[in-house]
Amino acid sequence: MRVSLAKLFALGVLAGSSQASPVQPQHTPQVHPFTVNLSSRVPRMLEQIRSTQLLSQPVYIDTGNANGITLHDLKSFQKQWLTAFNWESEQKEINKFKHYTTLIEGLTIHFVHEKSNATDAIPLVLLHGWPGSFLEFIPIIEELTKQATTASGKKVSFDVIVPSLPGFAFSSAPPVNWTFPDSARLINTLVTQVLHYDTYALFGTDIGGGIGWELYDQYNTTVRAAHLAFLPFLPLNSAQLDAQNITLNSLEAFEESVTTEWSTTGEGYFLEHTTKSNTTKPNTIGLALQDNAVGQLAWIGEKFLNWSDPSAGSAPSILTHHEILRHVSLYYLTESFASSVVIYAQNPQGFSSAYRKARTDAPLLFSAFKYNVGFWPPALVAQTGNLVLYNNHNFGGHFPGLDNPPALLGDLREIGNYWK
Ligand SMILES: *[C@@H]1O[C@H](CO)[C@@H](O)[C@H](O)[C@H]1NC(C)=O
Ligand SMILES: *[C@@H]1O[C@H](CO)[C@@H](O)[C@H](O)[C@H]1NC(C)=O
Ligand SMILES: *[C@@H]1O[C@H](CO)[C@@H](O)[C@H](O)[C@H]1NC(C)=O
Ligand SMILES: *[C@@H]1O[C@H](CO)[C@@H](O)[C@H](O)[C@H]1NC(C)=O
Ligand SMILES: *[C@@H]1O[C@H](CO)[C@@H](O)[C@H](O)[C@H]1NC(C)=O
Ligand SMILES: *[C@@H]1O[C@H](CO)[C@@H](O)[C@H](O)[C@H]1NC(C)=O
Ligand SMILES: *[C@@H]1O[C@H](CO)[C@@H](O)[C@H](O)[C@H]1NC(C)=O
Repeated sequence: MRVSLAKLFALGVLAGSSQASPVQPQHTPQVHPFTVNLSSRVPRMLEQIRSTQLLSQPVYIDTGNANGITLHDLKSFQKQWLTAFNWESEQKEINKFKHYTTLIEGLTIHFVHEKSNATDAIPLVLLHGWPGSFLEFIPIIEELTKQATTASGKKVSFDVIVPSLPGFAFSSAPPVNWTFPDSARLINTLVTQVLHYDTYALFGTDIGGGIGWELYDQYNTTVRAAHLAFLPFLPLNSAQLDAQNITLNSLEAFEESVTTEWSTTGEGYFLEHTTKSNTTKPNTIGLALQDNAVGQLAWIGEKFLNWSDPSAGSAPSILTHHEILRHVSLYYLTESFASSVVIYAQNPQGFSSAYRKARTDAPLLFSAFKYNVGFWPPALVAQTGNLVLYNNHNFGGHFPGLDNPPALLGDLREIGNYWK
């Protein structure tokens, strides 16, 4: 339990934590090769999954997924976790990639770094969200490093960097009041001072989209292309879109309806994690589920199911139930559930209604996916940066690296058309 105590201390949950203010590193932090090895925690996880007794039938009637994850789904996941899932083999797959850790501003930061053969490869940072992780991008890392072409025939390949954000997986929980701009500063330090790239491109989704936009806005000499699937600006409702004379085609209108559904029936988790409404307590859900494998499965699994294309798991999606179990296992085994949910409370202003243009001339690319829970039409995205490409996909959702990897890969390669 050493790790979880350290994390709780960092979160300020335990009394007496005094937080040093962030300092820039005096000299280049060292990079240490890292092997994922969570084997010692696996017996405890299996024991918990096995001993968790779910109801024999739903409390009332089974109302489908409108009330959250169904008892039926949770039971089927529980069974699969015990009978058809083996963390050791997942770990082996994950360790095929080159992992590293480094220390920045007193925080351990874990990242995957895979380089291309090409000498003109573009450094590309991929930023995940909640309840995601670096695993969201595993399916596209190798392809991104290969030499390929953009739609217009330009050669392109990438050096890929996938960090675990502070509070997630193998990265330290950050100090209290740590914000998206703090994470942005830390990522910029990682890429420029630790890995010594002068300039780079980035992709971000969910929280990673918020951090990505901050990087795009604040580090305009080093971030020379940004590609986002999510913005740190609140999507507009239909009346607000009308007021701006923004009209939607039929795919866009559907995506707007998914966003409306999120804000009317889907934001319970958000209110629980944040402190914005004064009524909710992130520590309560964080500590309640920190050492509860099936509980984390319900809380996280529901989001994977609800925020993805209903055809998730069938091509081109690889977001199977197995993949969801891989993610939940990572959260449980790395003891990072409590530190991951607190990011909402740390960023009460994380999503703003005050749209503004990033202070940069670097190109901005945007990918929309049919079932994503946030929708921004091209006219709105253009209000936030130098929008050069907007692709809308009628398959996929909130986890494009998993539920539409070919589309995300193709869109990312288009960065090559605008890279100077
Ligand atoms: C993980 O650590 C255990 C010791 O705790 C060791 O036996 C095992 O070989 C390690 N696995 C890997 C993949 O490094
Ligand atoms: C990288 O270069 C090696 C040696 O030239 C070659 O075998 C390999 O196929 C190349 N890999 C890629 C992804 O281009
Ligand atoms: C964190 O922010 C809260 C609210 O602004 C403030 O009261 C508190 O002192 C801050 N804590 C630290 C350690 O800066
Ligand atoms: C929307 O269109 C109307 C009618 O053409 C025009 O009067 C109004 O100024 C427009 N509003 C915006 C925000 O462009
Ligand atoms: C939260 O509480 C503070 C202090 O009581 C109050 O000023 C603020 O308006 C409340 N915010 C909401 C969203 O209720
Ligand atoms: C997500 O949940 C809502 C209820 O909040 C439900 O209406 C909707 O159909 C679900 N969407 C998917 C893709 O499962
Ligand atoms: C970067 O931002 C600063 C303002 O913060 C602005 O003066 C400068 O022109 C911007 N540079 C580029 C290349 O966009």
